[in-house]
Formats: sequence, C-alpha cells, structure tokens
Amino acid sequence: MRKIGIMTSGGDAPGMNACIRAATRIALQSGFEVYAIYDGYLGMVNNDISPLASLDVAGIIYRGGTILRTARLDEFKQEEYQIKAANNLKEHGIDTVIVIGGDGSFKGAQALSKHGINCLGIPGTIDNDLAYTDYTLGFDTAVNTALSAINNIRDTMTSHGRISIVEVMGRHCGEIALAAAIAGGAEAAILPEKELDIDSLADQLRYNTSHGRKSDIIILSEGVCKGEYLDKELRDRLGTDIKTTTLGHIQRGGTPTMMDRVLAARFAYRAVQLALEGKTNRVIGIRDNKIIDMNIDDALAMKKEIPQELYEIEEILSR
Ligand code: ADP
Ligand code: F6P
Repeated sequence: MRKIGIMTSGGDAPGMNACIRAATRIALQSGFEVYAIYDGYLGMVNNDISPLASLDVAGIIYRGGTILRTARLDEFKQEEYQIKAANNLKEHGIDTVIVIGGDGSFKGAQALSKHGINCLGIPGTIDNDLAYTDYTLGFDTAVNTALSAINNIRDTMTSHGRISIVEVMGRHCGEIALAAAIAGGAEAAILPEKELDIDSLADQLRYNTSHGRKSDIIILSEGVCKGEYLDKELRDRLGTDIKTTTLGHIQRGGTPTMMDRVLAARFAYRAVQLALEGKTNRVIGIRDNKIIDMNIDDALAMKKEIPQELYEIEEILSR
C-alpha cells in the first residue's frame, strides 16, 4: 500500500485543519496509508512521523491553527537536513508528502524533491502572496477577522471623531491590507506596493476633517512600517491624537470561513488525485474559480501581482 505524508509549515492559517481532514480522508478512501508529520520540517528531520486515521481528524474542520502543529526551521535550507528528512520519510516508506504552507515551505518542498520525495504543495498562508494562485488558504478568514476589528474600531472612532491607524499582517504583500481597506470602507490604505507619502496622507486627513468626516481609518500593512512610526509622523504634522491598533496574531487564528473550508477540500482533492496519477512536484492553486496545478519551480518563479483594479477601486472609494 502506498504511503502519503501530510504536514503544515511556516505561519499557520485558518483552513489548515479543514485541509488536513480532507486530505487524510480522501487519501484513505483512495487506498493510501496516511502519515502525520508534526511541526513541519522540524518533525520531518526529527522523525516525528506517525500514522493518521480518519477519526484522528474528526472535529477539527471548524478550528483555526493546525493539529499537526507548525514550525520554522532555518537549518532546512542546508542539504544535510534535507537528506536526513528524506531518509526518515523513506524509512517509513513514504514517497509523497502534501506540504501545506507558504512560499518558504514550498522552497523547502522544492529542495526535498531533489532527494527523491514527491512533494505536492497546498498554499496555506493568510498573506495571499503566492503569484500562481488567486487565493491561499486562510486569506479570506484573516481579512474577515480584520474587518470585524475594523468595524468595532470604526464605531468608537466615529463617536469620538478620531483618526485611527490599524496595522494588519501580510509580511511583504499588501493584499490583506488592500482587501480590508476596500471592504472596511477605510479612508486610506498604506501598502508595500505603493510609495508612502506621509505629507499627502496628512493633507488628505486635514481635508476630510474640514469637510465634516467624523472618523478616519488608515489601514497600514506591516510590510511598510510599524503603526507607531506612522502614528508619530501624523501627530507631528496634524497636532491631533491618533489611535493605533496592531491586529497582530488575532488575524491568524479563529474559525475558518466557508470559503476557506471549501477551498481546503478542493485543494486536498486535487493533491490526492495528483498522487494517484503519479504526478510529481506540483503545487495546487485556484484561478478563475478552477482548481489548477503547476510545476513547483515554475510557480515559485512567478512574481505576485495584485489586480490593478483593486488599487484603483481603493483609491476612488477612500476619497
Ligand atoms: P511560509 O511557508 O509561511 O512562507 P517560512 O518562510 O517561514 O513560511 O518558511 C517555512 C519553512 O520552510 C522555513 O522555516 C524552512 O524550514 C523552510 N524553508 C524556507 N525557505 C527555504 C529554502 N530556501 N530552502 C529550504 N527550506 C526552506
Ligand atoms: O506569513 C504569515 C505571517 O502571519 C505574516 O503575515 C507575518 O509577517 C508573519 O507570518 C508573522 O510571523 P510570526 O508568527 O513568526 O510572528
């Protein structure tokens, strides 16, 4: 019987558990033996690998985080660690691993594949920073979580007539911030993809106040600067109090949305199909609402671009 491993790696993302559940059950029903690899590449190197049964993944579909846990292991960039991991997998008779993670995890998978392990990547990161797929698991939930916080902040900012900065995650990619800004009706979005012009931002805030706007919410992507920095720069220019909230890891936990759960199942289904067909070293994604797969090297070579119309919509609606 063929054996397949499942692991989560890098920053966790809501929907990872739904994906683990779906991949496990689909693989079992397709005739595979399924193995859990704990703590990402750390567990692969330390041989923390054990069988996974259908009941082991019961009751997790609605939970954020990952029951397989996750880790960051910088040493995995070194070949000796990759060889050790590949040997551990081979000793268990595992020839295929489903890696649920972001671009860093996919680079690890790319390296592992050079040592005879078939790696199938499922994009799991709140950042939505992978170029080859329209969506990654966790993005929808994270933006909805950010929105819920933004709604609450809006209530109190409007009551007091205040300006507020809300710092959101996204590492080097501004898509969480851009989506949260559009959906949250923000007055500005500060993104790593756009040049930050604090003087123009201050002018816009002055204009808003003088034209009767009751509150201003600025969504700041963490990839640009810290909220405290922007807060100080704006205070110096405007001479008013600013309230800054960093949403931080609140965005990364919580129950996944319907969108992330269904996406998790669709990604898992394609991953197991690829394993059955003997296709190797591919990553799964979604484009134009169709599940796609492509070679891992080609996918990692692509440059992420946020649809231009989203920038334009945000610009118009924030005025
Ligand atoms: P994400 O997968 O969310 O982007 P990271 O960038 O932290 O998260 O990467 C997760 C893990 O993937 C790293 O801790 C490391 O073990 C592995 N990894 C990242 N980059 C590489 C690389 N260039 N070569 C081998 N392994 C890598
Ligand atoms: O990649 C997901 C992510 O949440 C980024 O948005 C953020 O920059 C980073 O991980 C935070 O990582 P950590 O949990 O190690 O602080």
